[in-house]
Amino acid sequence: MDIKGWDNRYRSKERVGEDFQIEPTKLVAQTARSLSPGKALDLACGTGRNALWLAQKGWNVTAVDGASAALQILGERARKENVNVETVRADLQKGEYNVTPSYWDLITVCYYLQRDLIEPAKNGTRPGGLLLMVVHITEGDEQPTESRLRPGELTRYFTGWEILHNYEGKPDDPAHRRAVAEIVARRPSAPIGSR
Ligand SMILES: C[S@@+](CC[C@H](N)C(=O)[O-])C[C@H]1O[C@@H](n2cnc3c(N)ncnc32)[C@H](O)[C@@H]1O
Repeated sequence: MDIKGWDNRYRSKERVGEDFQIEPTKLVAQTARSLSPGKALDLACGTGRNALWLAQKGWNVTAVDGASAALQILGERARKENVNVETVRADLQKGEYNVTPSYWDLITVCYYLQRDLIEPAKNGTRPGGLLLMVVHITEGDEQPTESRLRPGELTRYFTGWEILHNYEGKPDDPAHRRAVAEIVARRPSAPIGSR
C-alpha cells in the first residue's frame, strides 16, 4: 500500500472511531526494558504504539511515518499521556528522511519492509546500539515481494553484528497473522585505535 492508501486507512478508521493498536510490540518492550533510556528512532511508526511506550519509559523518541493522519493520532495520544515524541512526516521510499549516522541508541522498524532502508538504519545505529526489526516473510511457495522477505534473508543483512534475538515464525502480535522475521542486533563497537 502506498502512503496515500495508508493515510486514507488511518483517516477512515479515525472517522468510524475504531481503535488502533495501543500495546507496544512485545519485542520492543522486552528489548528496551533491559536498556538505559537513550535516543530512539521509530521508522514507519504508524500511530506510535512503540514510540509512545518508549517515551513513557524515558526514551527521547523521534517517530517517522509517511501518513500524516497516523502522526496526528500519535500527537493526540502523546498530549493525552503527557509525553513528548518528535514526529516527522516523511516518505521513506522517496528518501525524505535522512537517518543521522552513528547517532541512535535504538532504532525500531516494525512491520515495515524497505530493503534499501536497512543499510541507513544500520549506519544510524551508534556503535554498541541496537537495531530491532520485525518484517513479514514468505510462507510456503510464495515468492519474496517488496513487503516480504525470504525466510533467512533478514539475518544476512547483519553479518558482523551481535545477534541478540533472531526468530522466524508466527507473530506474537494480535494485529498480525502472517509469518514474520524478528531481529535485534547490536552494532559492533568501533575497533580500538579507530576511535
Ligand atoms: C503496518 S504499519 C506499522 C506501524 C508501526 N510500525 C507498528 O508496528 O504499529 C506500516 C506503516 O508504514 C508506513 N509507511 C508505509 N510506506 C511508507 C513510506 N514510504 N514512508 C513512510 N512510512 C510509510 C505506513 O503509513 C504505516 O504507518
